[in-house]
Amino acid sequence: MREQWGFSSAGEIVFGTNGVQRLGRIVSKLGCAHPMIVTDPGVQKAGLVERVTAPLNDMSIPYHLFEYGEPEPSTQVVLQAYEWAKERELDGIIAVGGGSVIDLAKAVAVLLTFGGDINDYFGEGKVPGRILPLIAIPTTAGTGSSVSPASVLTDLEANLKKGISDNKLRPTVALVDPLMTLTCPPFLTACTGIDVLAHAVEAYIATPFNYLPIAPEEVDTVLYHGAFPLADSLARDAIALVGGYLRLAVDQGQNVEARTHMCMANIMAGMAFSNAGVTAVHAMAYPLGAVSHAPHGLVNGLLLPHVLQYNLPICTERLANVAVWLGEEVDGLSDREAGQKAIDAIKQLIADLRLPSRMRDIGVQESDIRPMAEATMGVTRLLRSNPRRVTADDLEAIYRAAY
Ligand SMILES: [Fe+2]
Repeated sequence: MREQWGFSSAGEIVFGTNGVQRLGRIVSKLGCAHPMIVTDPGVQKAGLVERVTAPLNDMSIPYHLFEYGEPEPSTQVVLQAYEWAKERELDGIIAVGGGSVIDLAKAVAVLLTFGGDINDYFGEGKVPGRILPLIAIPTTAGTGSSVSPASVLTDLEANLKKGISDNKLRPTVALVDPLMTLTCPPFLTACTGIDVLAHAVEAYIATPFNYLPIAPEEVDTVLYHGAFPLADSLARDAIALVGGYLRLAVDQGQNVEARTHMCMANIMAGMAFSNAGVTAVHAMAYPLGAVSHAPHGLVNGLLLPHVLQYNLPICTERLANVAVWLGEEVDGLSDREAGQKAIDAIKQLIADLRLPSRMRDIGVQESDIRPMAEATMGVTRLLRSNPRRVTADDLEAIYRAAY
């Protein structure tokens, strides 16, 4: 039985409205004289890049702007950004965008610092040392990438998502300004927000750290420790904030209070899951994402109630707590009944957000189910944190329930 857990986050978190106005001072405090800004056309079109360049201009800090990020960034775009950046003098990276942009910036930072081939870094703990200073400015409340150690990229040739996971990839500064999320469209707000819920719930129900089967040689390098008390607290507050404010953030995009709470939920859930780990929901979302090409958050939201239903017999007490945090009335109910209320409340939330709840509605065929179940069995790093043991047949049954 393990006796310790560990916790890592971004080097610093600066949180609050109009935080981006401090960007120039933050950049110079890090000793950066020529930062590169990484963003994408959507963020550019929303007028968010000017908000970031204005404080740099005010302090006469020159910057290079790379605006060709893409959703679910491919290894090709990483290479393109790296080649572009190599030709310029730069000493830090500012990522302005959603998780895709931040993940792209992390991968570019690795290559700019250590060179080589991006394929050399896939897996856990392959980054040899500190990377260039990286400031992450999220424009969505989802993915948790602004505090997480992961960069998820798409290998187009293999039609596979691949990840670089290393604590050295956690941004130097997460600069979270809720005003930067006001223009995030309703559908994207819903998808990223439900991903936040999945992160928090999965971190909370993950196998406890002391019972997570970790090999002796992994003890000093493991990133995902299983559930532990600090992550539990963060998950609890994130769940309550999503339950209280996600609907409002989707339907009233300009509601600063709702956006601020969702930004906070994102950071809290990001810190929880990127230390405790995620479970079968995120594991099953990998093949489902590859088959459907639906957004990451959408597939996690779609799977979440079904995976929880499977896990309910093993985590009745924890799911009963989730029900309370989501505002459900549980007086007089058994833990199992209360846990069921949590699952039903999440289904209701997904319906209220008008997100699809069946795989058949996002282009999945029945014949895809067995291969997806078998592919999920390969995602061992996430599956081992699932509180209830799973076989390929179990995964197939969960996918069928979600079909
Ligand atoms: Fe996620």
